[in-house]
Amino acid sequence: MIRSLRGMNDMLPPENSRFASFIETASNIAKKYGFEFASAPLLEETSLFKRSVGDSSDIVGKEMYRFNDKGDNDVCLRPEGTAGIVRAFIQNKLDKKGGIHRFFYHGAMFRYERPQKGRLRQFHQFGCESFGEQSVYEDANVILMVRDILEYFDIKTTLKINSLGCSECMPPYKKNLVSFLEINKNELCQDCHRRIETNPIRVLDCKNEKCQNTLTDAPKLLNNLCKVCQSDFEQLQIILKSHNINFEVDNHLVRGLDYYTKTAFEFISNEIGAQSAIAGGGRYDKLVEMLDGKPTPAVGFAMGIERLQELIQKNVPTREGYYFGALDENAIETVFTKGIQKRKTHKCHIEYKVKNLKKHLNSADKINARYCAVIGENELNENKIWIKDLQEKTEFYESF
Ligand code: HAM
Repeated sequence: MIRSLRGMNDMLPPENSRFASFIETASNIAKKYGFEFASAPLLEETSLFKRSVGDSSDIVGKEMYRFNDKGDNDVCLRPEGTAGIVRAFIQNKLDKKGGIHRFFYHGAMFRYERPQKGRLRQFHQFGCESFGEQSVYEDANVILMVRDILEYFDIKTTLKINSLGCSECMPPYKKNLVSFLEINKNELCQDCHRRIETNPIRVLDCKNEKCQNTLTDAPKLLNNLCKVCQSDFEQLQIILKSHNINFEVDNHLVRGLDYYTKTAFEFISNEIGAQSAIAGGGRYDKLVEMLDGKPTPAVGFAMGIERLQELIQKNVPTREGYYFGALDENAIETVFTKGIQKRKTHKCHIEYKVKNLKKHLNSADKINARYCAVIGENELNENKIWIKDLQEKTEFYESF
C-alpha cells in the first residue's frame, strides 16, 4: 500500500471543515484590520529564501525541499510565506507606489524537519504582512489581530516579546556578544560553536541547559538598543498594557529567521507539548531593500494552523446543521421536501430509510449534526416537525 510521506497529512472530514471555518474566521478578522487576501506560488527560486530567511538559518541550511527543475532552475517549495509576499510586493511595484499595503494569506509550507507532535513537513500557515508603516502602533495592531483570532477560538496563550534592534545597534551588540561567546566557548555546545561563526544571536535561544546557564552573564541586547529602538520597544509595551494584553519580555527570543529587526514576538501555548509556538512574527524593515525593492518598513506574523486546530478541537463544538428522518413510510416525501428547503439556509443530511426515533438520533449523532429533525404520523397530521438540539439537549416543534 502506498502511504503519504512522513510528516505530510491528509485532511478529511471533520478536520477539513474545521480548517475551512478557521480560515473564514481569521480572514474576516484580518479584513476588519484592513488586510486583503494575497497569494504567492508554492514554488520559488531558492535564492529568494537564501537572501531573506538567511543562509545560516536551519530552515534554509537544513530543511528546504530543494531541487533543479527541468529548465535547471534551482527552486524550492516555500518553507514560509513572508519571502514570497515580499517578492510579489516588489515585483508588482507596490514599493515604488508607496503608501500602506496590508495582505493576508494562507496555505501549505514545507520544511524537512524531524516530524513529531505539532511538527510536520507539510503544514499550513495563516499570515499577515503589512508594508509601509513605520509606526510601532502597527506592531501592536498585528499583535492585537493575533489576540482577536486566538480569543475567538478561546485559545489561551502567553505572548513573548523582544526587540532585535536595528542596523545601528545590532552590529556593535553582535560584536560584544561574540567576544563573550569566544571567551566562554568551552562551556557551549557544538551547535553553538557553529552559530558563533554563522549567526551568533541564535546562540541566545539554544535549548541546551548548560549553554543557557553560561548565557546568564551574556550581554543583553535590550541594554544595548539605540535610542529609537529603545523608545519604540517601551512604547509597544505601553500600548499592549493599555489594551490589556499580558506579555513577557524575553531577552532570548531571537526567532529562527534572519530578517527581523526591532519587534519580535511569539504566542506560546502550554497545552500542545514541546512544539508550543502557535504564532510568531515581528518587524522586518530591511527585507524589501535586501530583495532589491525600495526601502519599505514592514511587520507581520504567521500562525501554524495544525497547532491551532489541536486546541480548537478541544474547545469548539463541532456539531453543525440538520439531520432529517422519517418515522413512517408516509412521511418520507415530506421529510425530503422539508430537508431540501432547510438546505437553503443550513447544511442538511436527509435519511431516506424509515427508522425509529432512537435510531435516527444515533445516526444524527454519528454525523455530528446539531439538530435531529423527524416527521412521523402525528407530525404529518399537525403539520409540524419534531426537532432535538443535540448540543443543548433541548426539544421543540417547528411548524410547516
Ligand atoms: P515561523 O515562526 O517560522 O515564522 O512560523 C510561524 C508558525 O508556523 C509557528 O509559530 C508554528 O505555529 C508554525 N510552524 C512552523 N513550523 C512548523 C512545522 N514544522 N509544523 C507545524 N507548524 C509549524 C514564519 O514562518 C514567519 N514567516 C512569520 C512572519 C510573518 N514574520 C513576519 N511575517
